[in-house]
Amino acid sequence: MALLEITNLHVSLEDGTEIVKGVDLAVDTNAKHAIMGANGSGKSTFAYALMGHPAYQVTEGDIRFDGESILEMGADERAQRGLFLAFQYPHAIPGVTVTSFLRSAINAKRKAANGGEEDPIPVKEFRTSLLAAMERLRVPRELAQRYLNDGFSGGEKKRVEILQMAILRPELAIMDETDSGLDIDALRIVSDGVNRLAGPELGVLVITHYSRLLRYIKPNVVHVLVDGRIVRTGGAEVADELERDGYAPYGVEEEAIVGG
Ligand SMILES: Nc1ncnc2c1ncn2[C@@H]1O[C@H](COP(=O)(O)OP(=O)(O)OP(=O)(O)O)[C@@H](O)[C@H]1O
Ligand SMILES: [Mg+2]
Repeated sequence: MALLEITNLHVSLEDGTEIVKGVDLAVDTNAKHAIMGANGSGKSTFAYALMGHPAYQVTEGDIRFDGESILEMGADERAQRGLFLAFQYPHAIPGVTVTSFLRSAINAKRKAANGGEEDPIPVKEFRTSLLAAMERLRVPRELAQRYLNDGFSGGEKKRVEILQMAILRPELAIMDETDSGLDIDALRIVSDGVNRLAGPELGVLVITHYSRLLRYIKPNVVHVLVDGRIVRTGGAEVADELERDGYAPYGVEEEAIVGG
């Protein structure tokens, strides 16, 4: 059984509109998967359902992580079990530095792993692992002392996300990369970070409309989502085809809408 196993997933909005209409997907560690789809195809809805966002109702099917259904778990518990959602902390948190944010995130995970008892990471160990991760990912030192997302550029937010991923060492990282806000700099930060962290202990699922991102990330498996269903699964060549031909071969009219 794969690390993440999604079977016949249906997701509806609060008003009952069905957006995701029966998705099957299995992602293992040591694999990079991409889901691509036109604007409005249901990518973010799918990602929110994986995260456990209360506004997105799973009406049918299952999401299993490490062999266990996570449908009844909140977002925090999913994260503590090793599922990382890059867009989980998009807000500025006044008065919390990047360093202290990362320390609380790691301590929350350690607490959960310790049966609910506090088990804070020793200061020296945290410092060593933070510095090592920053070096590996080429994150400037001064970023760690700034307040989280307070006036951060798109690229700086991405750096912190990737840093958070390095520190938390999730088993599976899911990233919903909208094309808005992904300038070339941010694009490189995300893809370099993913490429540096990917490996036998990490699975990656990148969700994007933006085939250009996949030129850098080079997924092994690409799925095409059209109107809430995966209509094609293949290798990296699928991303190349999409870059060349767009979604028209899948009966999708070319993007009238742009955005997030
Ligand atoms: N909270 C919501 N309230 C109302 N409609 C929603 C909500 N979330 C999603 N939708 C609708 O569901 C459909 C799918 O949206 P979703 O955001 O999942 O698409 P997407 O594939 O991520 O698109 P994009 O490439 O633009 O990010 C759209 O028609 C959208 O308007
Ligand atoms: Mg989206």
